[in-house]
Amino acid sequence: MQINWRPDPNATVPLYQQISTYCRQQIQQGNWLLGEKLPAQRQLAQQFGVNRSTIVTALNDLQAAGVLTSAYGNGTRVASNTWSLTLDWHHYLNGQFNANLPTIQTINRLENADYLRLSTGELAPELFPQRLIQTKLKTITPQITQMNYLEPLGALNLRQALVKRLHRWQINVQPENILITSGSLQALELISVALLRPGATVYTEAATYLKSLQVFQSAAATIKGIPQDASGLCYWQIPPATQQQLLYTIPSFQNPTGSVMTLARRQALLQFAQQQQLPLIEDTAYQELWLETPPPLPLKALDHTGNVLYLGTISKTLAPGLRLGWLVGPTAVIRRLSDVKMQTD
Ligand SMILES: Cc1ncc(COP(=O)(O)O)c(C=O)c1O
Repeated sequence: MQINWRPDPNATVPLYQQISTYCRQQIQQGNWLLGEKLPAQRQLAQQFGVNRSTIVTALNDLQAAGVLTSAYGNGTRVASNTWSLTLDWHHYLNGQFNANLPTIQTINRLENADYLRLSTGELAPELFPQRLIQTKLKTITPQITQMNYLEPLGALNLRQALVKRLHRWQINVQPENILITSGSLQALELISVALLRPGATVYTEAATYLKSLQVFQSAAATIKGIPQDASGLCYWQIPPATQQQLLYTIPSFQNPTGSVMTLARRQALLQFAQQQQLPLIEDTAYQELWLETPPPLPLKALDHTGNVLYLGTISKTLAPGLRLGWLVGPTAVIRRLSDVKMQTD
């Protein structure tokens, strides 16, 4: 136990009280741990530069307050009982949302500026269009006249721009079908808390985006993996619904396999989903990252019955730090999700 402090003999506060306050602070700040043994009284007197009687008074004060305990032959220790000033946060660290797996926590801790981060699938820093972004920000900044709350679905001009962008993928929707989210991870979170009931089943590709699992599981959903063959997800293995269920799929450049679902499989999957009344979440995070041939049309472009909730993001193509994603779906669903979003962020 390191003590590099001494009470001020010229202060109006008595020496024993100064020492008592110092000890409380050390414990409160977590510098002295619960159960830790204090030096013997003689040593303490030396370290604090006071008489032993002052130490005895200070220790009595702290013991009376339950901050310290002393047992015969066991010395004086920082009390680990409920009267301790130190709140034991461990009792509160197990809330409903699951923690990252220990391996992931280690990766998150170790990945810093000195490493090339591979786990997050981000843009290589040298690909970031710095000049373009600078020019755009310079043009936009003078046009900003206020930064008040936006409309529930997100900025209208952004949604209008997205309508045009989605049109390029043959997805024809209106701004009312789009909810701007804080990345597609928030879209998954909103779907989980606003649409799923506890006990619902979420089907995914047998290996899938790791963070989606945490989100679904934290909403008390059961996750079931469905295998893929060379054409994509073997959807016929999804049994008929006995309770609420949905399918989360990444048809283009799937995470983590990189596989692309063929057009024929997409059409067949949609037909199946229509027959089974199965909602689909289509995650298109990697859709734009093709090299020679673009992937087939998104499921949403082929969906004429409103089965598909489409997730888009700029995280993998431009800037994950901007936290910008979009969720496209039927207006009733979008309104429900935006209502929950407004209440949570
Ligand atoms: C399949 C998939 N979806 C979504 C995300 C997260 O995207 P965002 O940054 O938009 O939340 C990732 C990120 O790794 C991903 O791999």
